[in-house]
Amino acid sequence: MRVAEILAAGEAMERALALLEGGDVVAIPTETVYGLAADATNGVGVARIFEVKGRPRFNPLIAHVADLAMAERIALFDPVSKRLAQTFWPGPLTLVLPQRPGNGIHPLVTAGLDTIALRMPKGFGGQLIARLGRPLAAPSANSSGRISATTAEAVVADLGSKIKLVIDGGATSVGLESTIVKIEGGKLRLLRPGGIAAEEIEAAAGVKLSRGAAGIEAPGMLASHYAPGAAVRVNAAKVAKGEALLAFGPRRAGGWQGAAALRNLSETGDLREAASNLFAHMQDLDRSGAKTIAVEPIPSDGLGEAINDRLSRAAAPRDKID
Ligand code: TXA
Ligand code: MG
Repeated sequence: MRVAEILAAGEAMERALALLEGGDVVAIPTETVYGLAADATNGVGVARIFEVKGRPRFNPLIAHVADLAMAERIALFDPVSKRLAQTFWPGPLTLVLPQRPGNGIHPLVTAGLDTIALRMPKGFGGQLIARLGRPLAAPSANSSGRISATTAEAVVADLGSKIKLVIDGGATSVGLESTIVKIEGGKLRLLRPGGIAAEEIEAAAGVKLSRGAAGIEAPGMLASHYAPGAAVRVNAAKVAKGEALLAFGPRRAGGWQGAAALRNLSETGDLREAASNLFAHMQDLDRSGAKTIAVEPIPSDGLGEAINDRLSRAAAPRDKID
């Protein structure tokens, strides 16, 4: 059953702002593909993106900005990245850059990485971000495993029963996703070919792009990018003295009183709240200095599947990490 309201871009602003302020998602047109957007500083909103898409994993998301000033509050630009932004923004180029510490971006957006993917979209999305005053996290507006939507009708057909608002900006002009370039130490790497040709980027940057053999880097899938310093023990029924405890729900594992530190993903057992807390709580417990983080059992339905996926990657033996 369809519940999504479809509004033309010209009449959608106030409704979109109200939903985003309330921690909900909105499908927005961009020049590449439609995006499923949430306030990138709001963990519940960002968790809702994963829930709606049915993503089995917390892949990192692109944060969309309204202008270069907003981008520079979020990430650290070197001269090359600044030149690329000035040349191609707004437009279908995503830059992966080091995060500026304390930027307020929810860690679920970046899957706990210390880099962030940024892009400034054309059209209604840019105006919406400027009015909100905060960046929007947005993957393509399609269910996991389906192709990206380039019309409002395609978004409604796929996600119309799960979201409240689809903003219709007509067919997207680019029609495929943005080109993703990672800037590391003045070097450029093409992570995903897309709406801007690699040659154009090389011409503007004055340097060649290197290409990863795998084409697309999906760092959310690599345990090594996420594994905390402490060892991780999942499905813990008992807590050993001195372990840190990542709890879930109202009931505690045996021996919890001896835990060196404790964080609860959700007191009430709400998986969406748990997803939004996952990366921040893991980081807190890691900082406690405990050698092991014991994790209480977490159900694997709904967002629990993605939570358990991330936890089992964090718990994977470190010598098996690629
Ligand atoms: O055109 C687009 O880029 C569209 C519109 C909505 O902006 N968005 C889009 O998002 O295609 P999504 O989530 O489908 O793809 C984002 C890609 C993923 O492959 C993800 O792994 C990569 O960006 N990514 C995000 N953050 C990253 C990071 N810190 N390092 C490397 N790759 C990153
Ligand atoms: Mg996608």
